[in-house]
Amino acid sequence: ARVLLVSSEAVPLVKTGGLADVITALAISLRNAGVDASVLIPGYPEAMKNLGEVQPVQFDAVLPGGPGRLLRGTIPGTDVPAILLDTARFRRRDANPYVDQSGVEFDDNAVCFADLSHAAVAICAGQTGLEVPHVVHANDWHAALIPLLLKLRGLDHVGSMLTIHNLAFQGNYDMSVAEQIGIPPHMLTEDGVEYWGKISFLKAGIRFADCVSTVSKNYAQEILTSRFGYGMEGVLNFRKADLRAIPNAIDDALWNPRADQLIAAHFDSDNMKGKNVCKRDLQTLFGLLPADPFAPVLGIGSRISHQKMADVVIEALPAILERHQRLQVVVLGCGDRQYEEGFLQLAERYSGRMGVHIGYDERRAHALHAGSDMLLHGTRFEPFGLTPIYAMRYGTIPIGSRVGGLVDTINDAGPADQLPQGLPTAATGVLFDGESAQDMQDAVARAFTIYGSSACWQAMQRNAMNIDCDWSGPTRSYMDAYMQVAENTVRHLF
Ligand code: ADP
Ligand code: GLC
Repeated sequence: ARVLLVSSEAVPLVKTGGLADVITALAISLRNAGVDASVLIPGYPEAMKNLGEVQPVQFDAVLPGGPGRLLRGTIPGTDVPAILLDTARFRRRDANPYVDQSGVEFDDNAVCFADLSHAAVAICAGQTGLEVPHVVHANDWHAALIPLLLKLRGLDHVGSMLTIHNLAFQGNYDMSVAEQIGIPPHMLTEDGVEYWGKISFLKAGIRFADCVSTVSKNYAQEILTSRFGYGMEGVLNFRKADLRAIPNAIDDALWNPRADQLIAAHFDSDNMKGKNVCKRDLQTLFGLLPADPFAPVLGIGSRISHQKMADVVIEALPAILERHQRLQVVVLGCGDRQYEEGFLQLAERYSGRMGVHIGYDERRAHALHAGSDMLLHGTRFEPFGLTPIYAMRYGTIPIGSRVGGLVDTINDAGPADQLPQGLPTAATGVLFDGESAQDMQDAVARAFTIYGSSACWQAMQRNAMNIDCDWSGPTRSYMDAYMQVAENTVRHLF
């Protein structure tokens, strides 16, 4: 069977978050399972550069934003065919794919990503030199017009699936753009794509995809409620029967302390010596003094945003650093200017004890996960949350919010006062409720109590390093979903 995955990101072509990791890893895994999966993403300059050699694909559909070309190559280091949509608009996005230099959303995002969906639909309609897929799998709002456009064009020989990686990003735009992006007036209603007086790309996907999925069991429940539904809970409840939860997994070739090409030394749960080397490397990279192997290191690595509780971390860190005198802190991330500034100020104030790197840096991300003792991952909502899993793989204990996918993936160590009776046998980390600095400080303190007992800590590291986070199960689930949405055309193919 042929599946076209459509997304705005895919490693190592372009990445701002976990979506990029998931798309490529899933495509590889699907191909290993015999599915002919390929990936369509925008031709951002970075993606073009990273893809290397490409061939043009015959393509003559007209896109809402102007002319476009399809280019075909192979994702480096894999056998996954990648198709890039090259347009003048995408070509201008040479730094961040979504926002300009000052962090403001580009004003032609609606048109740019409508182009992506129209190009995908042209492929489904057989208007290009590419083979028609049996299923098109749209990811996040960037690709979410596809199911609607397929319906509008009567292309029911192609099944559609939408995966929600983050409900907070919806692609909501002024109604006036409707005509240009090919949404007819009869769709501009509550039953169609109207969302609080606007057009919503994500709603179009939720409403019209044959199947909708999200990336963890717990998040699939949460988004049906007003706290986490971001206004989409109504339409999600309406599609509840077709809503699946398929958890993410991780790419073992990239995130594995035994084989990681980007870390200073290899290790595994039977021999942790290499982790000390990684810690020293991390301390050096982030200017922590002294590079003391016995100083506990707390890592923070994520998009710097309100979602990831950057505001709360900044408020909590001084008290955390005062309370735990030997603690060293490293921060890696980029995002919201005002919070970036907050972290940099703290780094100045706690120079030597706290190192901050603002920017996107793959090597440092690996160093952080491998070399820290703990990963602080506060978050107001978390569809899945890859970073805590990466941390766990390297024996770095996550301290995370009790929300979203983290509830499914982190086993809480329980209250500190019960430690003398021993840890819960499957404990892998610390989960906390609440969004205040105090909640976060208390969680870190609880982790420190466990850290104080090396037997408990080592047991927890061992558990964390051995969690099951393999793609084979989720891949099966995607294949089931594809089979269901394309029942008539591909049943015999899987
Ligand atoms: P989200 O997708 O919400 O950002 P995830 O934890 O699922 O959260 O995925 C984040 C991914 O982005 C991880 O692979 C993480 O290592 C990576 N990442 C985030 N910020 C940076 C950064 N500044 N440098 C390198 N990698 C980063
Ligand atoms: C989103 C979510 C994150 C998830 C990732 C991949 O960016 O915020 O929780 O892991 O997508 O699905």
